Amino acid sequence: MTKIYTEKNIDQAAEQLQRGELIAFPTETVFGLGAIANNEEAVKNVYKVKGRPSDNPLIVHIHSKEAWREYIDDISKDRLQLVEQLADKLWPGPLTMVLPVKAGMFNPTVTGGLDTVGLRMPDHPLTLKLIEATGFPLVGPSANLSGKPSPTTVDHVMHDFNGKIAGVLNSAPTRIGVESTVIDLSDPDGIYILRPGYYTKTMIESAVPGIHISSKRKVLGIDETPKAPGMKYRHYSPDLEVIAIERQGIAQEVKQHSAQTTAVAATDAVLSHIDPAYQMFSLGKDATSATHQLFAALRAFDDSSEITTLIIELLPDTEENQAYRNRLLKAASTIKK
Ligand code: TXA
Ligand code: MG
Repeated sequence: MTKIYTEKNIDQAAEQLQRGELIAFPTETVFGLGAIANNEEAVKNVYKVKGRPSDNPLIVHIHSKEAWREYIDDISKDRLQLVEQLADKLWPGPLTMVLPVKAGMFNPTVTGGLDTVGLRMPDHPLTLKLIEATGFPLVGPSANLSGKPSPTTVDHVMHDFNGKIAGVLNSAPTRIGVESTVIDLSDPDGIYILRPGYYTKTMIESAVPGIHISSKRKVLGIDETPKAPGMKYRHYSPDLEVIAIERQGIAQEVKQHSAQTTAVAATDAVLSHIDPAYQMFSLGKDATSATHQLFAALRAFDDSSEITTLIIELLPDTEENQAYRNRLLKAASTIKK
């Protein structure tokens, strides 16, 4: 049985983690599948339970703005200052910093054998307590089966892992709904966004004046280990055909599908033009609510035996919508602009 833990028995959850058990935890972005990062067997189990390819490194979650210092190798003074400022301004929060890892700190199962580690301090008081009580950072990939949409509620976690992990730390649905922005600070030649997330380039640059984030994507050679290995796999896909389409085409597209087998997920203004015979999922009134609800929308019809197609709104190509578009374009089987 997978036990639901609360603030009252958080110490028991920490003991389970110390023993090498897996406990899912809430963050402001999505739920993470936690294991203590210094127990190789426990970390291996995270990959196993998720069905995750082992060359895809895990994010290490820390409980304070300073803890990163213990785990990283020497970097230039300038970089060190930037990391300090980023941690000070944007942690706790949806930013993962990839930094050179100090030798011997984490075994290769955590880092995927890379010489860097992704560190993040999540913005969730219970989870910060859990990490502190455990006494060592926790790895935390999103708590979903590999390839499925990330979980934003305890129910989503239970849907994928009930009976397969020791517990879940209970919490309300996550506040943001897409994962952290992963930035690479380990390359002396430049700072790069490896995975778009809640924080955009503009938000990061305005939080820390003087930081310049390259607008280039890292071009990877065929034989090179991908910089954010997770980005090469198909992701976030529910068991449905997903058609991602920009708002002006939605009503027309819907008419070509049967209401028996098709559901529609869109912002409210778009849904108001759809025949009520179709099952609908509201993405709320704007891009923020749509981003918050995206993964829930992708999972909403998973257990319906009738619905086989989901038509879902593709938000316009702006900087703010990057995380939403990145996730949806990976989930979609068909993209119509
Ligand atoms: O918001 C989040 O980041 C959530 C919550 C639970 O914290 N976690 C999450 O973890 O999304 P995960 O494992 O699903 O995604 C981690 C991403 C992957 O794309 C991975 O390849 C990349 O970060 N990553 C981790 N360590 C890295 C490293 N050392 N170098 C490059 N990329 C790394
Ligand atoms: Mg994930």
